[in-house]
Order: sequence, then structure tokens, then C-alpha cells
Amino acid sequence: EKGTYPHFMLKEIDEQPFVMRKIIQEYQDKNDTIKLDKDIRKAMKKADRIYIIAAGTSYHAGLVGKQFIERLANIPVEVHIASEFSYNMPMLSEKPLFVFISQSGETADSRSVLVQTKALGHPALTITNVPGSTLSREADYTLHLHAGPEIAVASTKAYTAQIAVLAILAVDSARAKGIDLSFDPLQELGIVASAMETLTDQKEEFERIAQEMFETTRNAFFIGRGVDYYVVQEAALKLKEISYIQAEGFAGGELKHGTIALIEEGTPVIAIATQENVNLSIRGNVQEVAARGANTCVVSLKGLEKDTDQFVLPEVHELLTPLVSVIPMQLLSYYAALHRDCDVDKPRNLAKSVTVE
Ligand code: F6R
Repeated sequence: EKGTYPHFMLKEIDEQPFVMRKIIQEYQDKNDTIKLDKDIRKAMKKADRIYIIAAGTSYHAGLVGKQFIERLANIPVEVHIASEFSYNMPMLSEKPLFVFISQSGETADSRSVLVQTKALGHPALTITNVPGSTLSREADYTLHLHAGPEIAVASTKAYTAQIAVLAILAVDSARAKGIDLSFDPLQELGIVASAMETLTDQKEEFERIAQEMFETTRNAFFIGRGVDYYVVQEAALKLKEISYIQAEGFAGGELKHGTIALIEEGTPVIAIATQENVNLSIRGNVQEVAARGANTCVVSLKGLEKDTDQFVLPEVHELLTPLVSVIPMQLLSYYAALHRDCDVDKPRNLAKSVTVE
């Protein structure tokens, strides 16, 4: 039930700190170390390459997960859109492990890939919010997101839960391979939970920014580099699906290769800047679009901020920044849709789980 909330989406955005704490609790054993199915650990250790298969928002979480698994566990990862993979299977490695990311566990496009890869004899792990779902039953292993029911069509808490579980999985796999890491995901997720709370406590601020940026616009651009590029793709999807504003997420450096032609006086451009190694270059991109009249908004991470930034995110571990940078994006989309009188929880033409290919 919605309780005092006007929409499920807003309730589910607010639940994210609790979901982080629930995940910490569920994936922590008595010695404060990671608790994870030994068979999953073995399957990850055995794999020479991981193929992440997902759709929509879950695909965007997979992009973030790739970085965790490659950087921490040193296993190569490919992330594929399910509907593309099914009709155009890439070359596979000798010992692949398929990881299906799906909030509902019912997405037909992902299931079609599972059926094909099972027929080839490859192992599969499903990361889902619904353990009894089709993708969970048909895969060899399941990791549960513990996000609680997600009712709003636009996915919010499932995305952050997917990223959190992928971080835990990556660290567990690294340890299984004897890689010594200083990164403790359970502890860092605790810091993330508090940071999320400070963000969900500032809703008026995001409502104001949404009004400034999106009140009358027909289009909007989101830019980022590195992991921020993955988050801006999710930001754009969220905005378009509930507010019907045409939105795209671009890699900052790619703008000059074509897209910058679309920038006019007043075009909204939202930049995420949470990564030190690209902080200067993404800010260069913001200047390029501002010089062409764009209405810019920079959301940066504490420690990397500039005086002119519209919003500064509380500091979290650099690998986990998507968990905080996405919250303002979810709230901006929510308020944009609200003020444009859109049906926030049930946007037109969309269903919560897509059970047709
Ligand atoms: C966007 C959204 C969709 C889903 C996609 C996959 O907010 O909800 O893009 O993420 O349809 O669904 P699941 O994760 O259930 O496989």
C-alpha cells in the first residue's frame, strides 16, 4: 500500500536506504563477512567470462556491475540487451557464466536467452526481486534483491538493489580467487544508506530543479563519463518513460561527434560528475554546451564540486557513486512528470513486466 505517499514511485524512492540495510543484513554472516551460496562462488570462479543479460533499467544496472566484476574480481564481462542477444548471439568464451538481471524475473526477452544458453549447456545465475519467478526457477542459481515489491512501473529501488548485490557478488568472487581487497562492500553500503537518506530528505530542492529544467521543454540531455555515463542512460530512461520528455544519456566526449548540433538556447543538459579522473573533462563538456545556450545543471560528488554546481552529493566510495547519483535523477523525473500532469505510476503504453518478446 501507498500509505501517506501520493505515488508508489515516491514511496519506492524513499525505501532505498532501507533496502540497502536489508541487503547488508541478508548478505552478512556472523563474522561480518559476506554470506553467499557456495555454488555461486564456485560458478563465478570457474567462469572465464561473464555474460550479463538484461533489459531496460536492469541492463543499466548490469553496466555498473560489469565494472565491479572486472575491476574487483578480474573476470571479463560483457553486458547485453536481451532482445539483441537472442537474435544475434555473439561469440562465446569456452566457460561462460550467464547472469540474468531482472526485477520481475518474468521478462520474456531475457527468458528467451536463458532457454537458448541452457540448451547449449551453459550455467546461469538469476539476480531478481522475485525468487519464485520464471527466470529464477529456470536458472541454476538465484540471488535475491530483497527490495520488497516494486509497484510503480518505473523501476527505482530494484536498480539500486541490483547494483548493491552485484558489488557484493564481485567482492565475494574476488575473495574466492584469492584477490586481497581493501574494499568492504557491506560497510560501504552502510555509508551509502545514510547518504541516500540525506538525498531523499531534500525533495523540495529536486522539485525546484525539475521545475527549472523541465517545466516546458520537449527534450533533455544527460551527460557523464565513465560510470556516470551508465547512470545518465538510466536518468534519461526514467525521465522519458514517466514525463514523456524526449531524453538521451550521452558520453560527454561523444557530444562533439554529432549530438552537440541539437543544443539550442535553453536546451536542458544535466551532467553527473562523480569521478575524479574525468572531472575536468566532463566540466569541459558542460562549458561547451553552455556556450551554445544550454540550460545546464551539474550534480557532482563532494570533494569534486565547484561553486557553480547545482547539487553536491554526499561522499561515498568511488565505485558506489551510482547508488547516490541516481537518486536525484529519479526525483527529478518524478517531479517533472508530476508537474506535467503525467500518470507517474502507470505511464502510457508500458506494463510492469514485459512478458512478450
Ligand atoms: C524502467 C523499467 C524497465 C525494466 C525492464 C526489465 O523503469 O522498469 O526498463 O527495467 O522492462 O524488467 P525486469 O527487470 O523485470 O526484467
